[in-house]
Amino acid sequence: MLAKVQSYALSGLEGVCVTVEADISKGLPSYEMVGLPDAAVKESKERVRSAVKNSALEFPAHKITVNLAPAYVKKEGSSFDLPVAIALLLAYGSIEGTVDGIIFLGELALNGDLRPVSGVLPSIISARDKGFTKFVVPKGNEKEAGYIHGVEVFAANSLREVVDHLTGEKPMQSVPTSSFTAATAEKERPYDLAFVKGQAIAKRALEVAVAGGHNILFVGPPGSGKTMLARALPSVLPDMAFNEALEITKIHSVAGTLGEEGIVTERPFRSPHHTATTVSLCGGGNKSVHPGEISLAHGGVLFLDELPEYKRSALEALRQPLEDGVITISRAGGTVTYPASFMLCASMNPCPCGNYGSRKRRCICTPNDIRKYKARISGPLLDRIDIQVEVDGVDYDDLVSETKEENSASVKARADAARKIQRARFENSQVQSNAEMGEKETREYCRLTPECESVLREAFESLRLSARARSRILKVARTIADLELCEDITPDHLYEAISYRTYGAEVNELD
Ligand SMILES: Nc1ncnc2c1ncn2[C@@H]1O[C@H](COP(=O)(O)OP(=O)(O)OP(=O)(O)O)[C@@H](O)[C@H]1O
Ligand SMILES: [Mg+2]
Ligand SMILES: [Zn+2]
Repeated sequence: MLAKVQSYALSGLEGVCVTVEADISKGLPSYEMVGLPDAAVKESKERVRSAVKNSALEFPAHKITVNLAPAYVKKEGSSFDLPVAIALLLAYGSIEGTVDGIIFLGELALNGDLRPVSGVLPSIISARDKGFTKFVVPKGNEKEAGYIHGVEVFAANSLREVVDHLTGEKPMQSVPTSSFTAATAEKERPYDLAFVKGQAIAKRALEVAVAGGHNILFVGPPGSGKTMLARALPSVLPDMAFNEALEITKIHSVAGTLGEEGIVTERPFRSPHHTATTVSLCGGGNKSVHPGEISLAHGGVLFLDELPEYKRSALEALRQPLEDGVITISRAGGTVTYPASFMLCASMNPCPCGNYGSRKRRCICTPNDIRKYKARISGPLLDRIDIQVEVDGVDYDDLVSETKEENSASVKARADAARKIQRARFENSQVQSNAEMGEKETREYCRLTPECESVLREAFESLRLSARARSRILKVARTIADLELCEDITPDHLYEAISYRTYGAEVNELD
């Protein structure tokens, strides 16, 4: 007899329905699996066999053929165990029941338990958009499935529970829909801007960066608070709306980095070590294409501390996603695209000894040392960093001063107000922040008066800026205007935005 059961395969965050066909015919006992299965699917044969036997069900001692269709779709992972087992049992006649229109996902343990699999949330959302409404998933994936509206999901502990549900012996209750609550600003955090003494310019730059979603680089001597400032970022980032949380959760579901809650409630803050490879930063892999750090940072911050220590090739690979907000990874048999729209926050010393440019300490490096050090960050990468701030060591008086520094909550309130203006501005478009504006939006929302135009022209020529730098200055100026709740960009807004590009200009001078 032949039986068909449906499952789902992902490529990136989108997917296709996979039909698992099981045929049992007379002949010597054998078990064949076809339809381009990778190693994991082959291993699934053994898991399915043991799980069926250990669930007090009979495993057919006949000629078994299992086909996963369509053949051209690459199937990865272990989520086909459950649909294969169900198809076998139906084909053999061990169970009867209807499975039409139900998508099955789940890995089987040898004892018949269902183990959670990655990518359940994006699979269900993608399948729902194709018209599927019923799903059977492992209990361990129940939480994430609960956040999806408009579907009926059953979460089972074991193969036996699924069988009893299908035969009507012991029907399961569908998973109730959960409501989303973002982590609140009041949450106790280990880092707050109030802990950072002095550094007014750097803090202001951080506020502008957060308000418009701009990339930021801190350059300064050791121990001046660069890492501290960056670590305080999560405390000033805007709260997340449900849709954003769902989009971010899709990526973490695929990567298997989803926490207990089943949904991402806080904007990601990823800080990969400087030994990170291009694959771990951007995504990829031999067997399957995993999302990289830049995708895991989607909607949040990618923090690269000690930027010049990262491999040059890994940093260069960031150039395309920094511009496009997505990463496309090619591999045998096709390409996979993951979202990668993040705010880059980086820090570095200005030279090998760390004191170049400092008013307080002397640099002992030769001009050649400094040039070589700075050259570790390529011009094109630096060009993509909207805000470059030089910080100097803190004064002792500032450090021990009793005056209270402004805390993250009040900085966040101002940044939130600027974000609100941006949300209204980009209401009907894909753009979410000033930093994401394309050519069209920049033209529309960053109009300059003749006076502003001449300010920018002068800076462009004297700092030898690129066309990209010009458009990024315009976006930063837009954000500064938004922070002041100003409709129009004024020369002061522009001067401030231009001041954030001087580090890059200095580097050009050295060449
Ligand atoms: N502005 C500051 N206010 C208060 N404490 C500070 C400040 N700057 C540095 N510190 C103290 O110095 C420590 C080191 O600071 P941090 O790691 O941020 O320096 P850094 O600029 O990242 O240095 P490096 O270039 O060596 O990485 C902090 O943990 C903190 O105790
Ligand atoms: Mg540091
Ligand atoms: Zn030096």
